[in-house]
Amino acid sequence: MTHSANEVNKLRFEEVTEGLHPVFRNRWSPRSFLEREVAPADLRHVFEAARWAASSGNGQPWRFIVGIRNSATHKRIVSTLAGFNQEWAPKAPALILGIANTLNSRGAVNAYALYDLGAASAYLTLEATALGLAAHQMGGFDHAAIRKALDIPDTYVLGSVIALGYQDEPGTLATETLIAREISPRERKPLNEMVFTAWGEPANLG
Ligand SMILES: Cc1cc2nc3c(=O)[nH]c(=O)nc-3n(C[C@H](O)[C@H](O)[C@H](O)COP(=O)(O)O)c2cc1C
Repeated sequence: MTHSANEVNKLRFEEVTEGLHPVFRNRWSPRSFLEREVAPADLRHVFEAARWAASSGNGQPWRFIVGIRNSATHKRIVSTLAGFNQEWAPKAPALILGIANTLNSRGAVNAYALYDLGAASAYLTLEATALGLAAHQMGGFDHAAIRKALDIPDTYVLGSVIALGYQDEPGTLATETLIAREISPRERKPLNEMVFTAWGEPANLG
């Protein structure tokens, strides 16, 4: 007997530091997806959120390629996923590839392109959470294959593929390994390993 989605979400919520805004507390990356479609208006919302991310020189280098299930784009993205991701991600009603233009409007290299795409992708996942959707980013895909399958120009750097949809019950996942991962506790480094007042010296955060 495994946990239900509600039980897992409750555990997830409790794992996150109290006092954080609910959108941060509620966001996590499930792998179980319902077949339920994402309404076009909700899809638009998550990209609106991405659109309002900060970016170097306001360059907004991010672009997103959206594959809706049963479309050629969805199938093409699925075909490039790593084996482990193939076990769960194809069920997601939307698979979104994030890419970023490495050249700015003057044709010079934008060293922050991938950084800015990361920020926009985070906004997207947080807006998804606020809408009651689940988003799961993946780096496990064949970069050369996805570039070819989706005609991505060489001047664009690849970010993640984001599975977007509605969370399903953990028990619907295809393998015991996936189910175990879905319900296992999350891990985070403590603040004193990531916030310093000088190199290696934890900042006093009260
Ligand atoms: C850039 C990136 C690549 C990731 N690649 C994969 C992946 O290929 N497969 C997968 O199942 N999860 C992948 N993840 C999800 C992470 O494992 C997950 O975000 C991390 O364990 C933290 O869990 P949380 O998002 O639930 O807080 C990726 C996440 C990011 C941001």
